[in-house]
Amino acid sequence: MPVKLDQELFQHMLPQQANAYQLMSDAELNAALEAIGKEAQEVSEKHLALDMARGKPSPEQTALSRPLLDLLTSASDLTDGASFADNYGDPDGLPSARALAAELLGVDPAQVIVAGSSSLNLMHDVLDMAYTHGIAGQKPWAQQASELAAAHPGEKLKFLCPVPGYDRHFRITEYYGFENVPVPMTEHGPDMKYVRMLVEGDSTVKGVWCVPRFANPSGVSYSDEVVRAFASLRPAAPDFRVMWDNAYAYHTFARPGETCAPLMNIFDALAQAGRDDLIIEFASTAKVTFPSSGMAWMCASEKDIQEIRASFSVRRVSPEKLLQLAHVRFLKDRAGLEAHMERHAELLRPRFELVERKLTDGLGKLAVAAWSHPKGGYFVSFNGPVGSARAIVSRTREMGVKLTSAGATWPSGNDPFDSNIRIAPSYPSLKELSQALDVFVIAVKQVAARLAKVDRGQYAFGDR
Ligand SMILES: Cc1ncc(COP(=O)(O)O)c(C=O)c1O
Repeated sequence: MPVKLDQELFQHMLPQQANAYQLMSDAELNAALEAIGKEAQEVSEKHLALDMARGKPSPEQTALSRPLLDLLTSASDLTDGASFADNYGDPDGLPSARALAAELLGVDPAQVIVAGSSSLNLMHDVLDMAYTHGIAGQKPWAQQASELAAAHPGEKLKFLCPVPGYDRHFRITEYYGFENVPVPMTEHGPDMKYVRMLVEGDSTVKGVWCVPRFANPSGVSYSDEVVRAFASLRPAAPDFRVMWDNAYAYHTFARPGETCAPLMNIFDALAQAGRDDLIIEFASTAKVTFPSSGMAWMCASEKDIQEIRASFSVRRVSPEKLLQLAHVRFLKDRAGLEAHMERHAELLRPRFELVERKLTDGLGKLAVAAWSHPKGGYFVSFNGPVGSARAIVSRTREMGVKLTSAGATWPSGNDPFDSNIRIAPSYPSLKELSQALDVFVIAVKQVAARLAKVDRGQYAFGDR
């Protein structure tokens, strides 16, 4: 049966109290709209063209890794123990690259495959394998999906999607014909009572997307309790898997001395729960060195890794070992990577502090919105009044600032509350970000005030 959205479960994400515009008299509201209209007019006349849409590192950040490009020259030794980076071989990755990835994940290198430069690509390939050939000795998901549809027209296999979440995750499972089922995020991670109910009660649920540290876009890091709850799931489907996308494992910008609890190692939690074939973990250097030109890796149980290895061996002889060698020589080990990430943090921290300051100064007293206060990752999750997000994004664009499309944080781009917006402050310079946030604040105020007028049946198209 398709899962019906229980709106009650998601209410805690929305602004909780009446906002200032709703509490104003008619005259006050008209005066507020007049003043906001003037601000909007002034900013429009600046003809800005700014982009706060995608979570990309800034040019200063990618510049931090340029010395990596000097590490391999025609004179370099390209051996890696008994392996050669300049030839075929090592289908699971260069030994030193596997050792580095294993050290970062806190697992045995035998459980790790390092391949390609995109973790999203690895996630796609694993799901593609399960779809076409099956996983855990089960029928391919494609076959299960057609048998299900034949027996129960309209029914699909399901994948759980914590929201707000990462649109590119949702697009993969949508592409393979899954029903993407929204699951509410809490401040500690996904609502595990709801996850357990769906996973343990329905064998058509085949997986769940997770970003366990500094989640995209909420910034939430999963508590130990949530990690343990994932590790002790007893899925109804033997081929259910948790897609543990640890994309932001080292991406904190907490101030030195500020506490930032480490994420519990999911494979330790699995061992403690006496479970094995349940979790597939992914990560990459996308936001450590160069997006799309680094190394990506994954880790799973011995049995799952064997199946995945067999499938990958059909697609490629061996991975990009020269890039892997350069990365290992540049980052060296976990301590080396952490030191490098501190330099990223110095560039990211002021941007996130600026977001917090601008939103608090511009919107704090109005109670029109709620937003996240992350200590890491790449995003701030923003919730405006119900019914506001699309209008805010389009009003912001009209004033020269591009944002991630409204709805992108929900499966199929469909936010039933039209409330969530993902703010991506990493790429613009501080000056550009400051201007972009001023525009955003004006748009939020204008849309919220117009909605307050709509509530009173007083708003007419074209009103300021
Ligand atoms: C949660 C998450 N996973 C994966 C990626 C993409 O990583 P990669 O470039 O390694 O495919 C991103 C990029 O924004 C992300 O936010």
